[in-house]
Amino acid sequence: MAEAAKQSWVARAGTGFGGQLRVPGDKSISHRGLLLGAIAEGTTRIDGFLRSEDCLATLAALRALGVTVDDEGDHVSVHGVGLRGLSAPAAPLDLGNSGTAIRLLAGLLAGQSFDTALTGDASLCRRPMGRIADPLGQMGARVDTTDGCPPLTVHGGRALAGIDYRLPVASAQVKSALLLAALYADGDTQIRGSGASRDHTERMLLSMGAALDLEEDCITLHPGRRLEAMDLQVPGDLSSAAFFLLGAALAADAPLVIESVGINPTRLGILGILELMGARVEVSNHRMEGREPVADLLLARSALRGAEIPPSVVPLAIDEFPVVFVAAAVADGDTLVTGAEELRHKESDRIATMVAGLRALGADIEERPDGALIHGGKLHGGEIDSHGDHRVAMAFAMAALVADGPVRIRDTANVATSFPEFPGLAVQAGLTLEVTES
Ligand code: S3P
Repeated sequence: MAEAAKQSWVARAGTGFGGQLRVPGDKSISHRGLLLGAIAEGTTRIDGFLRSEDCLATLAALRALGVTVDDEGDHVSVHGVGLRGLSAPAAPLDLGNSGTAIRLLAGLLAGQSFDTALTGDASLCRRPMGRIADPLGQMGARVDTTDGCPPLTVHGGRALAGIDYRLPVASAQVKSALLLAALYADGDTQIRGSGASRDHTERMLLSMGAALDLEEDCITLHPGRRLEAMDLQVPGDLSSAAFFLLGAALAADAPLVIESVGINPTRLGILGILELMGARVEVSNHRMEGREPVADLLLARSALRGAEIPPSVVPLAIDEFPVVFVAAAVADGDTLVTGAEELRHKESDRIATMVAGLRALGADIEERPDGALIHGGKLHGGEIDSHGDHRVAMAFAMAALVADGPVRIRDTANVATSFPEFPGLAVQAGLTLEVTES
């Protein structure tokens, strides 16, 4: 996968930044459409599916599990095999860079009659899997990890029982893995403490006819119902839009408009953070696509100021901290990020990677175990290592809009895991970006 390619970028400010654009489909919703469509009855049509390496890894895994998925250009059709219709894959499933794919699949596969081996790239094989293996074990499943990380072996043919589980971290991946396993359990499963994390799985399960009670701090899944196929329209990914919002806040010469972006409340933390920092995103043309809210976003250039980021907002903006760190580094005053230790368990250790990258561009920043204190100021040009982390690479590309020289970003190929169109769209918006392969 992307790991073999050594790609780097040189980003520079262009003549302006702005315009009207659309970002590709939401990654979390695209994964879930495939996974739930696979175990539903009938054909699930997914329009706006994100053709990124992460989602294509899930698609390939489902094909290896016996599911027919037709990629029909403007949409994907998943021919569901029902809850009990998956079959044993001939080889280990390689989920590349995707934490969502490996964790959700582990939950789904815990309820099957066969064993499955799951693996991924070097970054994925450093990510913690005890957080799913332990609660799945409490349900009666057996997920063997390799020192707590992938490769995993998910043992099939085990009777699962419902559990009452309190999530130790607000993680949608853990919650979703447990909900998928719970479809196969004898008895209800209750998941508590999950309020803050993204809720796309719950919305989609309800659309497909699952019996799910949603209370303030507790989700209850009653197994036994089959899932019905659905038509899914995937909204633009707010986590991809966030890089362009950053670019607009820093350098727009005319307002930037991003059309048809998902504005699920469990994802909206970045809008609140930008507002705290002095950038107000206008949200218009609200509508629903199925159970997911969608809108157009508009942002003009903004004078950013430092802010104290409330820890409660961290799970609602969990993928947007590379954007927040760059915004903070050029804001007027200090920004304090706390309660964000989870960032150390993403595609890279995002606290360490962002601190190192910003320092390389001259920022004054103090690393903390659970965040950072960022003293806003000016950035100069320089060279940073993204450590293969797609979101780090894209955030630093936008930093170049205000740096006083070119920003060279190493190890950028993994941007294709979530946003293959980023270089082209960034150039369209006004960034100067050279891509080199070596
Ligand atoms: C995701 C959940 C988040 C997020 C990831 C996608 C999902 O992870 O960081 O990019 O699709 O469920 P956690 O739930 O582990 O925080």
